[in-house]
Order: sequence, then C-alpha cells, then structure tokens
Amino acid sequence: MIRLNVNGKTHEVDADPATPLLYVLRDHLQLNGAKFGCGLGQCGACTVLVEGQAVFSCVVPASAVRERRVTTLEGLGTPEKPGRMQRAFIAEQAAQCGFCIPGMIMQAQALLERNPKPSPAEIRTHMNGHLCRCGTHMRILRAIERAVREP
Ligand code: FES
Ligand code: FES
Repeated sequence: MIRLNVNGKTHEVDADPATPLLYVLRDHLQLNGAKFGCGLGQCGACTVLVEGQAVFSCVVPASAVRERRVTTLEGLGTPEKPGRMQRAFIAEQAAQCGFCIPGMIMQAQALLERNPKPSPAEIRTHMNGHLCRCGTHMRILRAIERAVREP
C-alpha cells in the first residue's frame, strides 16, 4: 500500500512500491493530465510537481514520493475556473495536438512558483528539457510570458 498526497487529498493506493508515479496517477487515481510520452525521462509530457519542484513522473517510483505534496494539472484549476497558467495557454491557443501541453504547463508553473518574474531568456532555459513534436514552441513561450504579465 502506498500513501500519497495529491492535489490536497490523501490517497491509499494498492500498488507495487516500484510503480512509476505516472502510472499510479493515471491508472489508480484517474488523474489523466500527466501524459505518457517516452517513459524514459526525455520528453517532459509526464511532468508533475512534488513540493513545487517539477519532476518527470514516469521515472519516479510512487513509493519515493511518500506523503510529499504532489500537484498535477488537475490541481491547478478546473475547466470552469482554470488557473493562471492554464488561462494563459488558452488565451494564446498554445497547443496543436495538445499532448505535450500538460507537462509544459506544470514545468512553467514550477518556474513561476520560485521566480514570479522570469525573463524570456530564463523561460527558454527553464523549458529546455521539454519536447513538442508539433512545433508549438513559440506559442508556448508566449503563453508563459503572458502568465508572467497576468497573475
Ligand atoms: S513520459 Fe516522462 S519524460 Fe517522457
Ligand atoms: S502540441 Fe502536439 S506535441 Fe506539443
């Protein structure tokens, strides 16, 4: 049994301790915001926050997180009331297929939690480990810059 604190709620999950956090979130808790892209820690599609730090949940065993605070895309807002970063991505229409976007949003959220006013260069450097096969990078960067301007 693994105990997790996700989006402010405590969950007890009957899973092997080595199960990647991504699988537990998606398969046990039905939190499907984080996506399975590469499964190898190389694309960023599975990004969630652990105590405000962005982690690639496909390569983190759920048992390693223990009861530290996990935040997923669902924890940032709802369709009716999207959070700041989600609003900025919608306003900039920063998606094509959308598969990479949850990870992009969570990585950007992690940046703003520690640096509320990053420069465009700092944003680019911070987002460097994330891949978008649709080539939406420019709109993604514009969305993050909008979130910086519009808290
Ligand atoms: S699915 Fe986790 S980094 Fe690609
Ligand atoms: S919008 Fe399709 S992978 Fe990024």
